[in-house]
Amino acid sequence: LTAACGLALMSTAALADPAKCDDGETVVKFSHVTNSDKHPKGIAAQLFADRVNAEMDGKMCVEVYPNSTLYDDDALLEAMLQGDVQLGAPSLSKFEAFTKVFQIYDLPFVFKNIAAVDEFQASEAGAAMKASMERRGILGLEFWHNGMKQLSANKPLITPEDAKGLKFRVQPSDVIIAQFEALGASAQPMAFAEVYGALQTGVVDGQENAWSNIYGQKFYEVQDGTTETNHGVLDYLVVASVDWLDSLDPAVKDQMLTILNEVTVERNGAVNDVDMAARQSILDAGGKIVELDDAQRQAWVDAMKPVWSQFAEGVGQENIDAAQAINE
Ligand code: LMR
Repeated sequence: LTAACGLALMSTAALADPAKCDDGETVVKFSHVTNSDKHPKGIAAQLFADRVNAEMDGKMCVEVYPNSTLYDDDALLEAMLQGDVQLGAPSLSKFEAFTKVFQIYDLPFVFKNIAAVDEFQASEAGAAMKASMERRGILGLEFWHNGMKQLSANKPLITPEDAKGLKFRVQPSDVIIAQFEALGASAQPMAFAEVYGALQTGVVDGQENAWSNIYGQKFYEVQDGTTETNHGVLDYLVVASVDWLDSLDPAVKDQMLTILNEVTVERNGAVNDVDMAARQSILDAGGKIVELDDAQRQAWVDAMKPVWSQFAEGVGQENIDAAQAINE
């Protein structure tokens, strides 16, 4: 009875989330993989939907499907090209099969914080990356920020040697795989929705992610602790298919893109608060956070940074130099 009850509650919740669209409205499905509250992407997607549904009533209607309820990130772009989903915001690490330009974001310690990421994306070279998949039928509309990535495992991680021999869940990115191999660890690509179970059952020993994901997915429950390495960046690209965008009435498209841009500016500006609140929520829930002193953190830099040379040619040394200039 309890199980059946739980199931009924779950399906009501899943159905209750998307807005009710009226006949005649262009329905826009926005699919993503994270939770909705206390999460930079979840909050931004919902704000975008609320604004479109209020300001474009009768013309356009956005339904948000969070928590991988519609697609995981592996399936999203193909579904988008088929016209089955209209908007999504995968992390930049998920685009590798479509373009290699975002590999720069996965290089460990390449950006010192999200403000540096923001500045890089505002540059000509950074902004041009939004169009890098146009040939493949996908257009980037806006970059959405999350935060810096942290490292966790089923044992304390103080020195890089502590990671040796462990298996880490990674996003599907050759750069991130190389980063863990540089530590003498192994890497297993896996969909976001499966990570908690894999950590719990020991299929993998550890993972890397931003505070909002470590909190939202409760990874801290099934890890010894999280080490505050700030070693990488978790950032998103809001994408749509070129065909779908072209099919929209120009005035409707403009209004939607204006709302999306305003939501982007507002939520990207608030991202550090969301990030720090998630970090605090982990502590409040009893999760352990390990802080590193400068010398300890430098050891992680020294262990991971050599992977840059493996990818410099593909990423473009000029892009790496531009990122470094911003950090200074
Ligand atoms: C992950 O797969 O770890 C993240 O990209 C999830 C997300 O979208 O924040």
